[in-house]
Amino acid sequence: MSPVSNLSDYNIFRDYLENACGIVLGDNKQYLVASRLTRLMAEKHMTSLGQLLEELINKNNLSLQEQIIDAMTTNETSWFRDAHPFATLKQDILPEISRGRKSPIRIWSSACSSGQEPYSMSMSIHEFQMSNPGLLNADVQIIATDISSAMLSFSKKAKYESLAMARGLSEERKKRYFHEVDGGWEINQDIRSRMEFRELNLMDNYALLGKFDIVFCRNVLIYFSSKSKQDILERITKTLNPAGYLCLGGSESLTGVADRYDIIRSSGGVIYKLKP
Ligand SMILES: C[S@@+](CC[C@H](N)C(=O)[O-])C[C@H]1O[C@@H](n2cnc3c(N)ncnc32)[C@H](O)[C@@H]1O
Repeated sequence: MSPVSNLSDYNIFRDYLENACGIVLGDNKQYLVASRLTRLMAEKHMTSLGQLLEELINKNNLSLQEQIIDAMTTNETSWFRDAHPFATLKQDILPEISRGRKSPIRIWSSACSSGQEPYSMSMSIHEFQMSNPGLLNADVQIIATDISSAMLSFSKKAKYESLAMARGLSEERKKRYFHEVDGGWEINQDIRSRMEFRELNLMDNYALLGKFDIVFCRNVLIYFSSKSKQDILERITKTLNPAGYLCLGGSESLTGVADRYDIIRSSGGVIYKLKP
């Protein structure tokens, strides 16, 4: 029998997961929960979801909560994913916001997974500087956050194996921005130096992160309810500087905040600019 066959335990788990990290599981997704949690439950010698809930809820086991969120989240990502956000950053956004700018330009990658998104931003910034010498005089800071501490410590190491390297990275960029290390490829220090990684749950408060010129929130809101999406997008909007830019994933939209943004179509995709 499946360890997730008890419907009332499944429903309690669904509510728990949504409260903890925003992820919504549909009806009849017991098979998904079972497949994602099999290894963890075996490690903990648990045979039913009920036992897991007992640890989670009655014993408030926070390290187990973290492991469950890690198991239930999708970390799928790649270098320069969808291409257009990074092309738009180089061709449209940086030329505009660099002009006369003295204070640091701040960029937030808000669900950074294993780091490919924020490092692709950093490479794009370097490429912009190379092709526009003297134009960008301000520092650029990239704050990369994720709910998963495991993803963040992986990202900080900046070391990738061949399989990950093959996903979206040209030979030219590989040569320019990486060096070979024991069993993989490490990103060069100049690309890493503008990065800061922090653990952050998008369901929590992020007013303390400060203001940003550009926010990427890509391929994470698809897993959330419409109410959570709207709430997160409203709060992200508050973190943007006037005329700041917001980039969402290909199948995500401006739930509840569409009237606050102009749509910018560029490089074969869409990005949003906060209205004055
Ligand atoms: C599919 S990846 C997207 C990575 C990258 N943004 C991209 O588009 O390639 C989704 C990421 O969202 C993170 N995530 C899920 N729920 C989250 C939450 N409540 N707060 C912050 N990050 C979350 C996951 O840990 C995962 O790394």
